[in-house]
Amino acid sequence: DKRSFRHFMLKEIHEQPETAALWVARHLPEPTEGRLVALPLDPGLYEGLERVQILACGTSRHAALVGAYLLEQLAGIPTSVFYASEFRYAPPPLSRHTLTIGVTQSGETADTLAALAMEQERRRLVADPAFAPRLLGITNRPESSLARMVPHILDIGAGIEVGVAATKTFLGQLLAFYGLALALAERRGGASGPGGPRQLRDLVSQLRQLPALLERLVADHDQRCEALAHLFADTQDVIFLGRGINYPIALEGALKLKEISYIHAEGYPAGEMKHGPIALLDARVPVVSIAMPGTVFDKVLSNAQEAKARDAQLIGVAPEGPDTGLFDVLLPVPEVDELLSPLLTVIPMQLLSYHIAAHRGLDVDQPRNLAKSVTVE
Ligand code: M6R
Repeated sequence: DKRSFRHFMLKEIHEQPETAALWVARHLPEPTEGRLVALPLDPGLYEGLERVQILACGTSRHAALVGAYLLEQLAGIPTSVFYASEFRYAPPPLSRHTLTIGVTQSGETADTLAALAMEQERRRLVADPAFAPRLLGITNRPESSLARMVPHILDIGAGIEVGVAATKTFLGQLLAFYGLALALAERRGGASGPGGPRQLRDLVSQLRQLPALLERLVADHDQRCEALAHLFADTQDVIFLGRGINYPIALEGALKLKEISYIHAEGYPAGEMKHGPIALLDARVPVVSIAMPGTVFDKVLSNAQEAKARDAQLIGVAPEGPDTGLFDVLLPVPEVDELLSPLLTVIPMQLLSYHIAAHRGLDVDQPRNLAKSVTVE
């Protein structure tokens, strides 16, 4: 039931601190217990691993893009992400010692299942063991078709999600990738890879704070976004900008807004603006800029400045600080290690979309033309 919430989506957004707390309890053992991350992984999945490829659709694909960033930057493993629907009909040439990950919260998405089955089959036909299938599924439904198809599952354990818009399961998928990337970085001798042991320990100790951070963030942005929603009453287009590990969050912000509010929205890597999309901007097109301190912070701020110079209304998802004045509206997010920032920046994205759609009086939990599981091609 929805308890006191108006919609399941809002209830599920509010359940995210609990999703994170359960994940921390399950996967981050006390510092004395040896391993940094408790994740039972079959050595057959990672020994001698040279590549990872991830197949997914929609929001699950956005989680996969964050996952790819982590697998490359923390664990040093070359990783590609595919739309499952594209992979099916144009798979890349087979690569050696490759782990294929299917990400689907429902475990029933037809394109993702078919792409995985096709990959498994074409690898089975090769005699050379270097090409043997290594398959892993990430899902919220350990009893689903996906779980019957692949031998290894990471269960995100977020509890049933009723709203068509994925929220707590997205956070759960992100956390599954944090766990996987940290575990692989650790097993592959993180010291020599990009994620040295000190960095891994720091990330793990910041991850322990996540449930408390989310608790505050959800409560705070619920109010802020509700108060902002009326500003979007007549809005027809919104641009979401992010870079680096927050680029997938810009894509996710745009998808959330599209699917429940029916407002046209696009997510872009901020540096691409000047290659076309900037022509769209004027005072009627709000720009949401995710600007978190780290490798691309200055670049993102200067991209935001360019948007502002075209009279766009600028909404910043950024920490409070000297740059706050740049934004017409600030949705403040506490500063954490850049690699962890997507776990926080996604919250204002979800709540902004939710409140805009609710303000428009739309059926948030059952948006038109959409189903919770897309079981047809
Ligand atoms: O069950 P899946 O994770 O495989 O679903 C994939 C997409 O259909 C899904 O993420 C869709 O984009 C959501 N409605 C997004 O909120």
